[in-house]
Amino acid sequence: MKVTTHTLRKLKGERPIVAVTAYDAIFARYASEAGVDLILVGDSVGNTVLGFETTVPVTLDMMCHHTAAVARAKPQALVAVDVPFAEAHYDFERVLQACQRLVQEAGAEAVKIEGGVELAPQIKRLVDAGIPVWGHIGLKPQQVHTLGRYRKFGASQEEAESLMADALALEKAGVFALLVEMVEPGLTRTLTETAKVPVIGIGAGPHCDGQILVCTDLLGLSAGYVPSFAKRFAEAGEQVKLGFAAYSEAVRKKTFPA
Ligand code: KIV
Repeated sequence: MKVTTHTLRKLKGERPIVAVTAYDAIFARYASEAGVDLILVGDSVGNTVLGFETTVPVTLDMMCHHTAAVARAKPQALVAVDVPFAEAHYDFERVLQACQRLVQEAGAEAVKIEGGVELAPQIKRLVDAGIPVWGHIGLKPQQVHTLGRYRKFGASQEEAESLMADALALEKAGVFALLVEMVEPGLTRTLTETAKVPVIGIGAGPHCDGQILVCTDLLGLSAGYVPSFAKRFAEAGEQVKLGFAAYSEAVRKKTFPA
């Protein structure tokens, strides 16, 4: 059955929500066939697939391109997409236009926006315009140049209070879910217990309504930096290499084509 923002919300308290990233039709199809609930066309496409070091260089055109590929697979999973770097911080007309392209032109069913209290009014207007928004708090990778490095959030009282305020403001603005990235597990538990919408965690411990991982990390396809919380559930990279090697050998030995 097709997952919608409505059915996803109803899963809170019922069973854990499973979310993954995907950036093209092939992975969207496999994820959907595996029964994943939510596919995020993450701006992590920048550092996982496109060879950038961070998500910052990823543009709206790139997100539209990858989202359209995912949508063409017609996954049963809900398809959400990241609003890329800085886009949500312009005036409302510009962010509305960006979301319009992602939803109307590319085929996303929801957008994800990194930000808290400061973006709540903007997010409320998007929700009022019919665009489902998934809030993203804790580590916001688009802020890497301000932060200096990726790190855990919510250890100090001040940070915990600020995250709680972000979550409440976003919920009030009408988000259908919250993504909580690299937040102290104890605080994530409190956020999950307090929020009425599902809280989906990454590197935020087990006490969430669901989990998300980057597909290349969980499938063993990532080269270079992989966060320590990202468990590998397959060694697809090795399988791919073996396939290429077997093909190369067959061509060189003239056993293929037969
Ligand atoms: O872009 C991305 O992959 C993300 C992760 C936190 C899932 O936002």
